[in-house]
Amino acid sequence: MLRYFTTFDRPRPVARSGALRAVYDAAATGWQDGISKLGFLTAYAEVMAQTPAPAIDAKVLDVGTGTGAFATAWVARHGRPGTLTLTDISPAMLEAADARLDPARTVAAPLGADIPDLPPQDVVLCAHVVEHLEDPGAALRWLHDRLAPGGTLVMAISKPHWCTALVRWRWGNAAFVPEHAVSMLRAAGFRDVTAHPFSAGPPSRLSHGYVARRA
Ligand SMILES: C[S@@+](CC[C@H](N)C(=O)[O-])C[C@H]1O[C@@H](n2cnc3c(N)ncnc32)[C@H](O)[C@@H]1O
Repeated sequence: MLRYFTTFDRPRPVARSGALRAVYDAAATGWQDGISKLGFLTAYAEVMAQTPAPAIDAKVLDVGTGTGAFATAWVARHGRPGTLTLTDISPAMLEAADARLDPARTVAAPLGADIPDLPPQDVVLCAHVVEHLEDPGAALRWLHDRLAPGGTLVMAISKPHWCTALVRWRWGNAAFVPEHAVSMLRAAGFRDVTAHPFSAGPPSRLSHGYVARRA
């Protein structure tokens, strides 16, 4: 039983069905407010403070952008990139992200799908998405391959905690202890992988930040 509440390394069935898109579409209106109240905007600023300064006119991709909160934290830290591409499976989420981050290119596509005309990226962002996928290792390899050599990955991934059990009940996500997430990132080919705990509130219990580099 204790193991159930501390290891959630598989997504629940909702995450494996087409229902996930509808679940996130329905949540889009209140999403930004909700994550703000829980302290995730502060947490996202914390992990962005650990990221290197980007190249001038950097190409930035945020995968599973939701309402654009993670990309907004990157922009607040580093300023407007040269290009910003936002992807998600949920059209309603993408619409909210587009309004928040205009001008940006939005693409309704799942992680792993071909994104036409996407050159190698300087920065790839991905917060709380790989834990929805059946094969997180393949997801991380796909993210790795979207980066130009030397490019930076910034992530947040859910971690096990009894609070995560409640979140998981609704959203179906898996969760990974930071040591496991770091090994998965290394196995996907990333180098200089660093893990960054969030300092306070629900993000400190539910999630963890990561920064890594493509060699
Ligand atoms: C927990 S929310 C995180 C949103 C945003 N990254 C944030 O941190 O606020 C997960 C997002 O990933 C999207 N998503 C779920 N599965 C996905 C997939 N296979 N490919 C791309 N996006 C996906 C959902 O629609 C949702 O917007």
